[in-house]
Amino acid sequence: MLSSTVFIYLQLIVTLSLTLGRKAPGTLHSRNSFYVGGEYSNTEIAFGQIYVEHLVPADVTRPLPLMFICGRGQTGINLLNTPDGRAGWADYFLSQGYEVYLIDQPSRGRSPWQKSVDGPQTTLNTTYIESHFTATARYHLYPQADLHTQWPGSGVAGDPIFDAYYFSTVPSLSSDLETSQKMRHAGVALLERIGQPVILMTHSQSGAFGWLLRDARPSFVRAIIALEPVGPPFINAVFPPFASLRPYGLTELPIQFSPPLMSPKDLSPQLVNSIPNVACYEQISPARQLVNLADVPILVVTAEASYHVLYDNCTVNFLKQAGVKVDHVELGNLGFHGNGHMMFLEKNSDEIVDQVVHGWILEKGLGRKIQSLPYFRYGFTIMPTRLVMLLKATASFLSHQAS
Ligand SMILES: *[C@@H]1O[C@H](CO)[C@@H](O)[C@H](O)[C@H]1NC(C)=O
Ligand SMILES: *[C@@H]1O[C@H](CO)[C@@H](O)[C@H](O)[C@H]1NC(C)=O
Repeated sequence: MLSSTVFIYLQLIVTLSLTLGRKAPGTLHSRNSFYVGGEYSNTEIAFGQIYVEHLVPADVTRPLPLMFICGRGQTGINLLNTPDGRAGWADYFLSQGYEVYLIDQPSRGRSPWQKSVDGPQTTLNTTYIESHFTATARYHLYPQADLHTQWPGSGVAGDPIFDAYYFSTVPSLSSDLETSQKMRHAGVALLERIGQPVILMTHSQSGAFGWLLRDARPSFVRAIIALEPVGPPFINAVFPPFASLRPYGLTELPIQFSPPLMSPKDLSPQLVNSIPNVACYEQISPARQLVNLADVPILVVTAEASYHVLYDNCTVNFLKQAGVKVDHVELGNLGFHGNGHMMFLEKNSDEIVDQVVHGWILEKGLGRKIQSLPYFRYGFTIMPTRLVMLLKATASFLSHQAS
């Protein structure tokens, strides 16, 4: 097994660095990487596959792995380290006994962009990143921008922490529709390969994929954590132009409503609230229900100084109207002040993941500790959940044989 080899190798490194008097940073884990979801074009090249990193702590003590899909312009590196050199959220979850899956979206980062098959790409420039994410107070594009204090460093090009972050920004497919189609395809392939339920965490542009993947494979998505998911329903807000988007409310692609839609127009969006630069729409009542999202715990997290604070409530209301149970946490109300859209990279990122995100997972009973089975020095681990699945499969096989 590749992962066992990597594991032994990591143990070797740890032993060596301890011998040399240096402590290995972060949580001891094994790392496996693979590609999934590719298809062949008629020119005999593969496209649409995503790069996946699977991190497994030495002690897996939680039943559900965490799967993370980054937002626009980002890659799985989002959770590995913060740009100011601290351990990222992936390490936090490893330290708590969770397996972690990090992915690069199709045609992004380490996932190939094929010139003849994939559509055009866009790169976010420094002005965009500074004004929306890292130095919002300097630009003041929305009222809460001034509250931003948690980005480490000045947040502008030339600052070493900004540069470390900005250099990790990569081109993304320009079309939201194309991205959605490719990401749903690859995301389903990954969920099937993992083969057990996960906690799916999304951020920003990938927010739509939380809803779509749960809709496509309800049994494999046990919970959704949406960090400032793309919104609000049906239309862009805060930054003009206010283009109509997301014809199914929160997604570009069809998602299952009950009663079913003949056309997205059946949702008949109605303006329910309007503040400067934010038009909030809901369905005309009685609202169609998002049936595949009805029974999954969902957490939406919104930061105090992010532009999302102006409309995440509208996104949450749309979900609730469609029969979805959502817990909406506004960080400012919990005493986490001054965060922007990239809260998982900011100065108080450790407190947010521990108290807000993991706190919620535990509150929902999704992180209940399981007995970690002894692992043997040869780098061999048995996931307890997999063992249970294996036993169940064996039992069902034997009962079929008997009958
Ligand atoms: C940076 O990107 C924004 C948004 O895409 C664009 O409007 C602006 O012109 C770009 N700035 C420069 C200097 O090209
Ligand atoms: C959402 O929150 C903003 C900011 O607090 C507020 O102005 C707006 O009215 C709220 N919108 C809805 C639909 O509740």
